Amino acid sequence: MFGVLLLTSSLHAAPLRFDTIAENFLDPMELSIASDGSIFVIEREGRLLRVNPDTGGTFVIGQVPVTALHESDSKTPYAREDGGLGITVAPDFATSQQLYIYYSHPTEMLNRLSRFTLKGGLLDLSSEQALLDVHTDRRDRVCHHGGSLTFDPAGNLYLSTGDNTNPFESGGKAPLDDRDKREHCDAMRSAGNTNDLRGKVLRIHPTKDGYDIPADNLFKPGTEKTRPEIYVMGCRNPFRLSLDPKTGIIYWGEVGPDSRNADDKGPMGYDEVNQAKQAGNFGWPFVIADNKPYPIVDFDTRKPGEITDPAAPRNPGHRNTGLEVLPPAQKAFVWYPYGDSTEFPVMGSGGRNAMAGPVFYFDAKRKWNLLPSEDDHSLITYDWMRGKLWKAKLDQNEQLSTLEPFAEGLRHPMDLELAPDGSYWLLEYGSNWYFNRDGRVRRIRPGTGNQSPILEVEAVPDQPRTWRVKSATDPENEKITVQWWLTVGTAEHQLGTGSSITVPGNTGSELRAVAIDPADNRTIVRIPLQDTNQLPQLELELAGNKLAPGASLGFKVKGLADPAQAVVRLRYIAPAGHDAGTVELPTPVEHTLTTRLCFSCHQTDAKSIGPRYTDVALRYKGNDAALETLKQKLKTGGAGTWGEIPMPPQLTITDEEADAALRAILALGEVLVETTGSAEGTITAPENLPGHEPGGAWEVTAEAPAHQTARLRIPAE
Ligand code: HEC
Repeated sequence: MFGVLLLTSSLHAAPLRFDTIAENFLDPMELSIASDGSIFVIEREGRLLRVNPDTGGTFVIGQVPVTALHESDSKTPYAREDGGLGITVAPDFATSQQLYIYYSHPTEMLNRLSRFTLKGGLLDLSSEQALLDVHTDRRDRVCHHGGSLTFDPAGNLYLSTGDNTNPFESGGKAPLDDRDKREHCDAMRSAGNTNDLRGKVLRIHPTKDGYDIPADNLFKPGTEKTRPEIYVMGCRNPFRLSLDPKTGIIYWGEVGPDSRNADDKGPMGYDEVNQAKQAGNFGWPFVIADNKPYPIVDFDTRKPGEITDPAAPRNPGHRNTGLEVLPPAQKAFVWYPYGDSTEFPVMGSGGRNAMAGPVFYFDAKRKWNLLPSEDDHSLITYDWMRGKLWKAKLDQNEQLSTLEPFAEGLRHPMDLELAPDGSYWLLEYGSNWYFNRDGRVRRIRPGTGNQSPILEVEAVPDQPRTWRVKSATDPENEKITVQWWLTVGTAEHQLGTGSSITVPGNTGSELRAVAIDPADNRTIVRIPLQDTNQLPQLELELAGNKLAPGASLGFKVKGLADPAQAVVRLRYIAPAGHDAGTVELPTPVEHTLTTRLCFSCHQTDAKSIGPRYTDVALRYKGNDAALETLKQKLKTGGAGTWGEIPMPPQLTITDEEADAALRAILALGEVLVETTGSAEGTITAPENLPGHEPGGAWEVTAEAPAHQTARLRIPAE
C-alpha cells in the first residue's frame, strides 16, 4: 500500500517526504529516468520494468536472458553476483527509444554492455547491439561486478566494473594470491591490470555502429599493454556511479574488504566514496582509503613483502598482462571502516556498502528542491547497509567542506536519481541479500509545502469487481480528483474518474485509484485483481473412441452450472507433425512472434491481453479477405473487434514476416472446429485435412469461463 513517511529525523534536517510509487520488485539493481519521467528498472534476474510515475503503473516490458543466481540453487558457488547489472536510457531516448543494459551473458563467460531499442514500448531482444564485452570468471565464489551506467552531457558513457574476485580467502585484506590455480583470489589480474576491463570505470562514446574512445582517458589509444576504454582503474566493486553534469566530475561508492584491524598484512577494510576530476588509478588492490598501502603478501608463506608506494604502485602478479608500474594512486574522497571513523565520524559504524548519488544544485525555477539553498552544490551519498543519506557540501575547488546525514531508515538503497522536476527517485533493493519480493521505487521530495491527498478505497459488497472511495481528504482542503487506472499486461487504461468504478471483463491484473490535488500531488492506492482461486475442473464424455474426417462425435460436458457457456473444440493432429501437446505454429512463425514481441500480448491457445490465435483462426474461417484485413490491422493497430483494449500498431514486423505469420495463424482453422452453447451434442470433424494420413489423432477440449479445460485424445481414422 501507498504510504507517506515524514522523516523529521533526529538528524536536524528539513523533513523529507517519501512516496512509494512502485513496489514488489525482485532484487532491482539500477534505475534510469527518461525525459518524460518514465522510470526504467533492471532486476538481477533480468526483468526489465517501466514505471509510470504519475499512476504507479508498473510494467514488465522485457526479460534479458542472463546468468544469475536462482532461489532453487541458492548455495551454488557459481555466478553469485551475476545477472542484470545496470541500465541507462540513451541521451536521445525520447526519439530513439534506446537504452543501454549491462548484464551477465547467459552462456558466454562475460558481462556484456548492449544497446537495445524499445518497440511499441517493449524490449525488442532482436534489436540488441553488443557494444562491449568484459571477460568474467564465475566459479569459486568470485564476486563484484559493479555495473552502474551513466552518460555525461557530451554523450560519453561511463560503466563501472568490479574486480571479479573472491573476497573470502584473503583474510579481509587485499586479494593478491599469485599462486597457481588461485586466479579467483587474485585482483592483480583484474583491478590492478591496465590491460583488463575489470575493476574499472570505463568511458566510451557510443556511435551508430560501436563506440569511439573519448580524449583524455587514462591511457592513450595504442599504448602497449593497456586498454583505451579505461577512465579509472583500481576499483574493487564500484557501486553506483554519479556524474556532476556541471563539472563532469564522477563520483562512485567503493565497497571495501572486510578486515576489522590493521596488521602486518595491511590496513583494516574501508569503504570509499570517490571523486575523479580526471582519469586516474584509485589504487585497488594495492592501496585503500587515503592511500594506505598493502604489502605484497606471499600467499605461500603468508609473509608480507614489499610495501606498495602509492606514488608509483607496482603490479608484480604473474597473471598481470598490463603495465608493471601503474599510474600514481589517488586518495578516496570519503572513507570509513566498520567501526567508528576517526576522519568522518558522521558516517557512523556497522555494515557498509558505499554508494554515490547525484550532486544537488539549488534551482529556484524547478518545482522541487530537496535541500535548502545553503546546500547548493552538495554530493548526496548513501550506504546500502546503513540505509542512510548524507550530503557532502563541496567548496569552490570541489573539495569536501561539510558532511552530514539527512535521512535514514531506507530499505537497502540501491540507486538514487534526480528527475527533471527536482524530485529524487530512490530504488530500494529489498530487505534481503537475494530473492527479494519487496524492492520498491520511492519518490523523495521536500516535506514542506502542499501535501498529497489521503485516500482510502474499499470493495463494494455484492458487486463483483467494483470499488469505491471510502475517504479522500486533503491536508490543505483542496478539491481532489480520483482517477481509476487498470493495468492489462504491459499497458494501462484510465477507466474513468469519480467515486466508484466497476472493472469490465476479466483481463486486468491491477486496479489503481489515484487521488490528485490541484497542485498535482498524487496518492496511489493499489488493488491487485489476480484471481488466486483454484478453478473448478470440467469433465468430458465422448460417444465414440475413434473418428474419421467428416464424421460426427457425440459429447457431454459435466461440471458446468450454465450449459450455454460450454465451448467444445475438436482439433486434428497429423501423425507426421511434431506434437507438443498444445497448439503450435510452425517454428519460423513461432520465432517471428517471439522476436516481434507478439507473444507478450497473445498466446496461441490461451486468452491473454489480445485474442488467442486459435480464436482468430476460427473467426475468419472461410473469409478470403481476412489475410489482407489482418495485415492492415497490424500496421494500424486498433480496438473493438475483440474488446475495448487496443492493439498498438506493430511496426517492427516486416511485411514478409506478417504474411507468413498470419497465414499460419489462419491455417490453424483448417484443422479446428468448434461448437458452443450446449453441454451435450455432437461435433463434426472437418472433411478435408491437410497432411491427413492414417495414424493421426483428435484432441477434444471442453472449456468455459472460470473453469479448467477438459482434454481427451482419440485416434483419427
Ligand atoms: C500490446 C499488446 C499487443 C501486442 C504487442 C500485439 N497484439 Fe495483436 N492484439 C492485441 C489486442 C488487444 C487485440 C484485439 C484488438 C481488437 O479488439 O481489435 C489484438 C488483435 C490481434 C489480431 C486480430 C485482429 C482482428 O481484427 O481480429 C491479430 C491477428 C493479432 N493481434 C496479431 C498480432 C501480431 C502478429 C502481433 C505481433 C507482431 C501482435 N498481435 C502484437 C494486442 C496486442
